[in-house]
Amino acid sequence: MGQVLINGIELIGTGNSIRLDKDLDTAVKKMVGLAKTQGITERERLHVEALDLFSKGDFPKACKLWEDILLYQPTDILALKLAHDTYFYMGLAQQLRDCLARAVAHWTPQMPLYGYLKGMYSFGLVETNFYDLAEKTAMEGLALNPHDAWSAHSLAHVYEMRADVNNGLKFMKETENNWKDSDMLACHNYWHWALYHIEKGDYYTALSIYDTHVSKSCFESGSMLDIVDTSSMLYRLQMEGVNVDNQWKKLATVTKNHAKDQILIFNDVHILMSLFGAKEIDTANEVITSLQELSKTPGENYQYQICKDLGLPICQAIAEFANGNYSRSVDLLNPVRYRIQNIGGSNAQRDVFNQLLIHAALKSDSRAHHKLARCLLMERDAFRPNSPMTERLIRKATALHNVD
Ligand SMILES: [Fe+2]
Repeated sequence: MGQVLINGIELIGTGNSIRLDKDLDTAVKKMVGLAKTQGITERERLHVEALDLFSKGDFPKACKLWEDILLYQPTDILALKLAHDTYFYMGLAQQLRDCLARAVAHWTPQMPLYGYLKGMYSFGLVETNFYDLAEKTAMEGLALNPHDAWSAHSLAHVYEMRADVNNGLKFMKETENNWKDSDMLACHNYWHWALYHIEKGDYYTALSIYDTHVSKSCFESGSMLDIVDTSSMLYRLQMEGVNVDNQWKKLATVTKNHAKDQILIFNDVHILMSLFGAKEIDTANEVITSLQELSKTPGENYQYQICKDLGLPICQAIAEFANGNYSRSVDLLNPVRYRIQNIGGSNAQRDVFNQLLIHAALKSDSRAHHKLARCLLMERDAFRPNSPMTERLIRKATALHNVD
């Protein structure tokens, strides 16, 4: 189980794969081999098999085996955490929420790590739009352990989804000392903090958080979550009209090393953003070509399976946007918008694609796309009212409307 733990932590980080890293491949094979020769329990055997499947990209079957463990061992926090993260990577928010809901009833507050269930469950709730219950559950997690960075993170999502910028900023400021040393999640929480400033149009403060925390952490750790956050933040700022050319160039020195990863499409599209941002066109095209090749023979790999009809249109939409072909970008992204959830990530993270579609539609030379932009903004305002960003974009769309 020690090997399951070490390999599990490495694989679930999605910055490294058995396809590219011989040491990791050997470690997984060694774990699988040992499981066959040693007297282990059924639960241990399931853990090994699930991780082996995850390492080969078969996320659905891996989750099925973690669920099999949880049926009889609902207090197995490793199975819970790995299932939670893998559902997250498949964009299966309801399954993420429900696997926690089923387990929580079997736990008591006296059990070690009990508090961490609250943060995970709260995250499942906020991702399925139960904001009030998510807030209550995260607060319970923080009452048990104020240093639980995942509960704090879940609360940051609640404020983000409500466009409640003032309470979001207040909360991050008040609790910073509790989560600022929480490894890679600290960077992600700072990213959420910066999003509130982008929402407000305060790009200066957002960039200062970028310099002091988000990119600093990315360049120091090189972790995949940090890379995703850094790319996503610059992309949002660029769409808002902020010049981040120099930041792109520096970031590309890190992301270039992951161009051939193809572990998660979600990661690949963020790497693509940075490569196009830095005008590393050849490397960006290599990412797309590699995805095209892998999608031809997907086998059991979930990511390759969704590549042809979903991953590649998103990649191509990013490429067309970078090349100034905004109309083409809209035509690629709009038909897949309700399936983008399948590439994983949170609603807040995937909002970058909603913003991309709106910006592309506004920049397109097609009047139909201008009309589409106005409709998308009405829709955005309906489920997330009082958003300063939406209001800014509506003003932009209205100006186009007057011209049209
Ligand atoms: Fe988040």
